[in-house]
Amino acid sequence: MTADTVTMTDNQDLRRQMVETCRQMNATGINQGTAGNLSVRTGDGFLITPSSLPYDRMEPDDLVEMAFDGTYVGRRPSSEWRFHRDILRQRGDIDVVLHCHSLYATTLAVHHKTIPSFHYMTGVAGGTTIRCAKYATFGTQQLSDYALEALEGRLACLLGQHGQISLGKTLESALWLANEVETLSRMYVQALTLGEPPILPDDEMERVIEQMRRMSYGQAPDLDGINDIARPRQAG
Ligand code: 13P
Repeated sequence: MTADTVTMTDNQDLRRQMVETCRQMNATGINQGTAGNLSVRTGDGFLITPSSLPYDRMEPDDLVEMAFDGTYVGRRPSSEWRFHRDILRQRGDIDVVLHCHSLYATTLAVHHKTIPSFHYMTGVAGGTTIRCAKYATFGTQQLSDYALEALEGRLACLLGQHGQISLGKTLESALWLANEVETLSRMYVQALTLGEPPILPDDEMERVIEQMRRMSYGQAPDLDGINDIARPRQAG
């Protein structure tokens, strides 16, 4: 990508919305410090947060325009650009990737626990579980490969000894899901203090997910595309 195909001032509205979403990640308590990152698909690539810049100091022009071949214009992109790139490239059903180290999701992730269907809301991530990806060093291709595996047929996953990833068609739905994953994680951690809770059977979860799809339940209309995830979307 060359400076004449993408300029720093492209997508100003989207850049502003991304900064606002990042600040909401902090305000809702799912993110702090320089943890977390966010990306959104654009016409021919994606916009991603820069590495190591606290969100309260981030401005729209700090967002980095990346192409699917990993070239970029602007500041140094998030160290996690590989999993953002790979998820956006493989998952035609979503346009937003949000990563954070929210407290309760990470509490489960440090124990490599999958969230089971202990509560019907587990279905908002598109299946009977929210899986935990195997551990790999941050910023590596291995971590991206493990994340893609854990996200198969899902809109969210935990990352072993690291955090969580939530996906959406919009910034709003990805942020909503990240908060839901955090709430479910908190409920599950608390439920575990009384022992392993009973799990809803798969046929009930099928009904729940069908009901969510039919009703566009909460802010999870993204479930519409969840059965089509094998269909990769070509890089622009
Ligand atoms: P970046 O600041 O490079 O995005 O890293 C934060 C993070 O959460 C790494 O997983």
